[in-house]
Order: sequence, then structure tokens, then C-alpha cells
Amino acid sequence: MTDTPGATDRGRTAAVLTGLGAWLPPRRVPNSELCTRIDSSDQWIRERIGIAERRIAEPPVATGDMAVEAAARALASAGACGADALVLATNTPDRPCPATAPWVAHRLGLPAVAAFDVMAGCSGFLYACTVAAGLIAAGTAQRVLVVGAETMTSLVDPADRATAPIFGDGAGAAVLEAGPPHAEGALGPVVWGSDGSLSDAIAVPAGGARERHRRHLAAPEEHFVQMRGNEVFRHAVRRMSAAARQAAAAAGWGIGDVDRLIAHQANQRITATVADTLGIPAAHAPSNIAQVGNTAAASVPLLLAHAADQGELKPGHKVLLVAFGSGLAWAATTLVWPAGLSARLP
Ligand code: UT7
Repeated sequence: MTDTPGATDRGRTAAVLTGLGAWLPPRRVPNSELCTRIDSSDQWIRERIGIAERRIAEPPVATGDMAVEAAARALASAGACGADALVLATNTPDRPCPATAPWVAHRLGLPAVAAFDVMAGCSGFLYACTVAAGLIAAGTAQRVLVVGAETMTSLVDPADRATAPIFGDGAGAAVLEAGPPHAEGALGPVVWGSDGSLSDAIAVPAGGARERHRRHLAAPEEHFVQMRGNEVFRHAVRRMSAAARQAAAAAGWGIGDVDRLIAHQANQRITATVADTLGIPAAHAPSNIAQVGNTAAASVPLLLAHAADQGELKPGHKVLLVAFGSGLAWAATTLVWPAGLSARLP
């Protein structure tokens, strides 16, 4: 057991990363195109957020389709053709009900596997990995497919300059398998938490049970995500820095041991500030936000796949993962990058 607050110890059977896949919709939207709709500029978006372009899923493509593409690639990367369970992290399910995961499993040809969605904002993928690790530790599953997929542009008001420049669509997926806790690729202790007192800091006001009495009265913008960006920024830096530091300590690492920081791609200035606060060199915090934007629950697995593909993650690297988002919810964990893992990208 660890004495780090909020940390969990998952016993003797660990969840080991054996496969990684990603998928991005082909349509690119550069800042210049976005700025024909909102009062902003390419320069402002690059300097204040770090984004040059994002990908947009064009209807009828939705979260489930992108999840299928990323998950199939993760299974191929693991050399596996099946899994005991599928956990899909998303804030943008294909429909309010039912969960999207069973349909994804069906499309993958995995009939009858346990499949469910996890909604934990931009921390969803790390939350889903933690759930998967718990299933593996309990002996409930041997191999779990964990997917982060988002059609964030379905939640974004295209005319809202507070959110439209930030979010993009995409999917990433990982295969986690039972293995020894000291194996390369084994997920370390998790530090996670939430603060529901700030649940309205990033929220879609309408469309849920709370507002059902005025379902037909809601203004159009109440069906889109609304964010108090400046406030969220400060909490993101504070929570990500603390959780990352605690997760490293729970793994028995000093911050100087960390080779790479994989941080949720919320805003390049958040990643830079978190790295700086922790004392991790900026060059050791890979980033893909310039090309894909903030893809919420897809962000961490997409960055893992891109960083692995570009040789940023090398066998034996000590990797610290951290995420933060709506809820508010945050999570951090560690792993030693395994040899022979080759991410599958489109
Ligand atoms: O994914 C997890 C959850 N999300 C996040 O973690 C996102 C966290 N927040 C952020 O990334 C940033 O707060 C934003 C990118 C949303 C906004 O950046 P900011 O630097 O915090 O901007 P601000 O709201 O403090 O506004 C600064 C200035 C204001 O102008 P004045 O009053 O200084 O003249 C805004 O009106 O920037 C202006 N502004 C813009 N200008 C051009 C705000 N948004 C825009 C825009 N284009 N899109």
C-alpha cells in the first residue's frame, strides 16, 4: 500500500499496456477557417492556446465510429483479436442513452463482452484505465480494451470564441492485460479525485435530467458546452501539478527520474506551466495540441500514440501521465515504457 493521499494500490496483478491505436477524422480546420466565424485570430489562438488546426468529424461520423477505428488499431498493435471488456471514455456519446461502448464492441466483432462508458471529462481515459486495472486486479478480466473517443465539436457552439478554438475530434485506444506489477508497461499507482463544487465551470446546461422541466425552453447556446476558461486554467495547473507529483511519489520516483510527462492537451500554456511547476524540462513534455487541439477524453491516448510513433517514448522511459477536466476531475499515474510496443495510426 502507498501512503499517498488518494492513491490506490491494485495488488499483485497489474494492468500492462500491450497495444496502442489512434484515429483522427481527415477533415482539418485551420485557425484561419475558424476565424471566419469567430472574433479571433490565428496569432491569438497559437499564442494563447498553442493550436494551429484541429480535426472535425463530419456527420454522420460520430464518437462510436472513431472509437471502433482506434480500438481496432490498438488490438492489432497488441497482436490480439479479442478482449474481456471494453471501457469507453467519452463526454460525447453517440446518443444520451444507451452507452456507446456496447455498439463499439459489436462493430469490433466482440459480441457479449462487458462494455460500458465512463464520463470523467478530459480525465476519462485515465479513469477508464483505472477501472480496467481494477477489473484485472480482481480477476474479473484478463484483457481490457480502453478507448477515449470524442466528437467534441458536437458540443461546441461554432460561434463561441471561448470554446470553438479549443476543441477537436478524435480517438485513441489502449489494450491493458494482466501481468506482474514490475513488468514494463505496468500501470503504477493512481492518484485521482474530483471537485463537484465546480461542476458548472465546464458544463452543458441543458439536455439532462436537471433541466427536464424546461426542455423545450432552453436557449440554443444552453445545449453547447460553456466554460469559465480562466478559472478552469488555474485549477488545471494546480490539480495536475499536485496529482502528477503524488503519482510519481507513489511509484517511488523522484521528479528527476521522470523521462516524459504525458499531459492532457488542454492548452499548451497549461502543459508548459505544469511541467515548469514540477521541474520537468519543456522538451520532456511531448505535445500534439498544435495539430489536433483539445480532444478531451481522447487526448491522453492520442498523445501516447503520436509520441510513441515519433520515437519520443523509448523503452525504459519513466512516463508520468496526468489529466484534468470537467467535473472537475483529475487523475495521474505512471508507467515504464515497454519495449516492442508499436502504436498503430491511420
Ligand atoms: O480540457 C480541460 C478543460 N479546459 C481547459 O483546461 C481550458 C482552460 N482555459 C484556457 O485554456 C484559457 O483560459 C482559454 C484559452 C479558454 C482563454 O485564454 P485566456 O488567456 O484565459 O483568456 P481570457 O479569458 O483571460 O481573456 C484574455 C483576453 C480578453 O481580452 P481583454 O479583456 O484582455 O481585452 C478576452 O476578451 O483575450 C480575449 N479573448 C480572445 N481574443 C481572441 C478571449 N478569447 C479570445 C479569442 N480570441 N478566442
